Amino acid sequence: MKITVVGAGNVGATTAQRLAEREIAEEIVLIDIMEGLPQGKALDIYESAPVLGFDTKVTGSNDYQTTAGSHIAVITAGLARKPGMSREDLLQKNSAIVGGVTDQLLAHSPDIIIIVVSNPLDIMCSVALAKSGLPSTRVIGMAGILDTARFRAFIALELGVSVRDIQALVLGGHGDAMVPLVRYTTISGIPLADLLDAQRIDALVDRTRKGGIEIVNLLKTGSAYYAPSAAAAEMVEAIVLNQRRQLPCSALLSGEYGLDGIYMGVPCILGKNGLEKIIEVDVTAEEAAALKKSADAVKATLGQLKL
Ligand code: NAI
Ligand code: 2OP
Repeated sequence: MKITVVGAGNVGATTAQRLAEREIAEEIVLIDIMEGLPQGKALDIYESAPVLGFDTKVTGSNDYQTTAGSHIAVITAGLARKPGMSREDLLQKNSAIVGGVTDQLLAHSPDIIIIVVSNPLDIMCSVALAKSGLPSTRVIGMAGILDTARFRAFIALELGVSVRDIQALVLGGHGDAMVPLVRYTTISGIPLADLLDAQRIDALVDRTRKGGIEIVNLLKTGSAYYAPSAAAAEMVEAIVLNQRRQLPCSALLSGEYGLDGIYMGVPCILGKNGLEKIIEVDVTAEEAAALKKSADAVKATLGQLKL
C-alpha cells in the first residue's frame, strides 16, 4: 500500500505524520512544489519513527514519478485562508492547482482513489473528478468529519462529558450554510434536545458553522490543520483497511437528497473501493430547505468555473 499526500504544508505534513504513525501503508510520499519542503518534512517525520516505533517509509519529493503506483492520494495543495477571506476567495487559484495536481497523479497512478482537502472543498472535488475522469466513487472530499468533530467537541465542552459519547451529523457543503442535524445528535443515545435548551443548541450550531474562521482568526497566518488532518487520516484508514466506516464526506450526488451533479457532505460508507455507498437519511421539510440552501451556495460557486 502506497499513499501520496500532495501539499507538504500544515494539513499535508500533519496528515502524512498521522498516517505514518498508524502504520497502515508501507510507504507515504509527500509532494510539494517548494523545493526541499516535502523532503525536509518527510525526513523529519521518518526520524520520529525510531522513537515512536513505526516502520512506514516516508519520503518527500517534487517529482510525481515517485508517486507511481499509489493506491490513494490526499490533495491538500493550494492556498489556505487568512483573516477576512472566505473559502470561496480561494476558488480560481486553487482550481488551477488542484487540476494540475490531479493530472500529474493520474499520469502515474491511473486507478488511484483521491481524497480532496483543498478549498473550496466541494468545488475542488468537482475539479478533481472532471480532470481525472475517474468514477465518482474514487473522488471523495474531506469536510463532514471535521465539521461533525467540531460540533461534537463544542457539545462535549458545553455538557462536560467525553467527546467519545457524542454522536452527531453535519451535512451539506463545507461553507457557512452547512447543516448540523440536531435531530440526529445524541449523547450515548440520549437526544441532545433532552439535555440542552434550544437557545444553547443554536449557539453550538452557529459556532460549528463558523468553526473554520474561528481558528483562522486566532492563528492569523493560516487555517486549521490538526483536526483536518485527523479527519483526512480517518478517511484514508477506512479505505485502506476496508473498514466500511459510515462517515460524513463530500460525494457526488445523483438524485440523493433531491440534488444532482454537485458534491456535498452526506453520510457515506467508505471501503476498499473508495465510496461504497451514499446513505439517505430522512430529513424534515426544514432540514431539506437548509440542505437546499447549502446546495445552492455550492452551485453558485461551481457556476463560476468552466469544467
Ligand atoms: P499550507 O499553505 O500550509 O500548505 C499548502 C501547501 O500546498 C504549500 O506547502 C504549498 O507549497 C503547496 N502547493 C501549492 N501549490 C502546489 C502545487 N501545484 N503542487 C503541490 N503543492 C502545492 O495550507 P494548509 O493549511 O495545509 O491548507 C491546504 C488547503 O486545505 C487549503 O486550501 C485549505 O483551505 C484547505 N483546508 C481544507 C479543509 C477542509 O475541511 N476541507 C480543512 C483545512 C484546510
Ligand atoms: C476549516 O474549516 C479551512 O476549511 C477549513 O478549517
